[in-house]
Amino acid sequence: MVLGVSGGIAAYKAVEVCRRLTDAGAVVSPVMTAAATRFVGETTLSALASEPVRRSLFDDAEPIPHTRLGQGADLIIVVPATARLIGAYAAGISSDLLTATLLATRAPVLVCPAMHTEMWEHPAVVENIATLRRRGVHVLEPAAGRLAGGDVGRGRLADPADIVAAAARLLDRRGEMAGVGAVVTAGGTREPIDPVRFIGNRSSGKQGYAIAAELARRGATVSLVSTVDLPPPPGVAVTVVETAAEMEAAVTAAAASAGVVVMAAAVADFRPKATAATKIKKHDGPPDVVLEPTPDILAGLCRRRRPDQVIVGFAAETIVAEGPTLAELAATKLEAKGADLIVANDVAAPGVGFAHDTNAVLIVGRDGLRSNVDLTDKAQVAAAVVDAVTRLIHNQEEQDQP
Ligand code: C5P
Repeated sequence: MVLGVSGGIAAYKAVEVCRRLTDAGAVVSPVMTAAATRFVGETTLSALASEPVRRSLFDDAEPIPHTRLGQGADLIIVVPATARLIGAYAAGISSDLLTATLLATRAPVLVCPAMHTEMWEHPAVVENIATLRRRGVHVLEPAAGRLAGGDVGRGRLADPADIVAAAARLLDRRGEMAGVGAVVTAGGTREPIDPVRFIGNRSSGKQGYAIAAELARRGATVSLVSTVDLPPPPGVAVTVVETAAEMEAAVTAAAASAGVVVMAAAVADFRPKATAATKIKKHDGPPDVVLEPTPDILAGLCRRRRPDQVIVGFAAETIVAEGPTLAELAATKLEAKGADLIVANDVAAPGVGFAHDTNAVLIVGRDGLRSNVDLTDKAQVAAAVVDAVTRLIHNQEEQDQP
């Protein structure tokens, strides 16, 4: 793996991370920025790592070190990641060997930020972190505690033991889903009233994209059926659809050969019975739009499912104190749809669900699974959903053994 070190005071802790990684058997290639070498000695890291420290795109005998490092890595960890490094990475600026290596890789990347609280909370850094997360970069949140200069607050590098544990989790997941075909849906459907108007919903598709990216990272062959125009995750084939009917056709075709189906899309429950061929004119007065139910794609897939297929549904709910709980609604939906897993969220809660980069979910399973994922980024929620799917697939494989 590549251990990137950028220039913050917490760079001295990269030494311990390096030692722990090599002790655990990892082959570690350290890459330091120029500023990092002011905080920690190159010789120290070189002595602890498996390869000598690299610092520059140009000094080495090797003409293009970033592509070798980026392509050859199973994982890249950046400890610490400074505001500058995060900004350059988010903007795609490869101004040194470390940023060039980050752009030249398809391996998972774990970024461990460390900086003063004011910097961590600056809107530029907040947006850059959100951008990286949307692209599937794993971010290990800094902790609150003592900072350089005696200040106290959020921004302290995560504990080296936690960094190494997070790295181990990312590596353990590689190849877990190799040979598995998966279909994921994302976004909200649009049901046309006339050529310019539609009935839609607030789904952004981000959670579905994050799940598709996570499945692909773990080796699955992923087909994403989407209503939104986001950049496709690496290695994922995207089919763009608009209506529930189009989504049903695309999902049914792709599900025929898939072992996993994740219905993360917000599919309209009702659509206009008739679509006007031309724009309805304002002066004709408000039209009477008569609605009819859409096909329930998830329920249909579950009715026709093969025994080896794992089918995941979503439940976007709005919870009120006097009404049923999220767990009760999830259990009812699990039963009604016949799914293996339901991922439920309270979309009325702050930072949860539609359009946000974060989410908080309850995952319930037919096998009794009940797993709460507290508010975190959608990549982490995707990892929890894919963990639950992986568990079911591996349980089935065990049962299939003679
Ligand atoms: O029935 P409800 O819309 O609450 O269920 C949500 C789940 O069902 C989601 O997984 C969604 O993708 C799926 N669904 C579907 N077809 C519909 C409506 C919802 O597959 N027509």
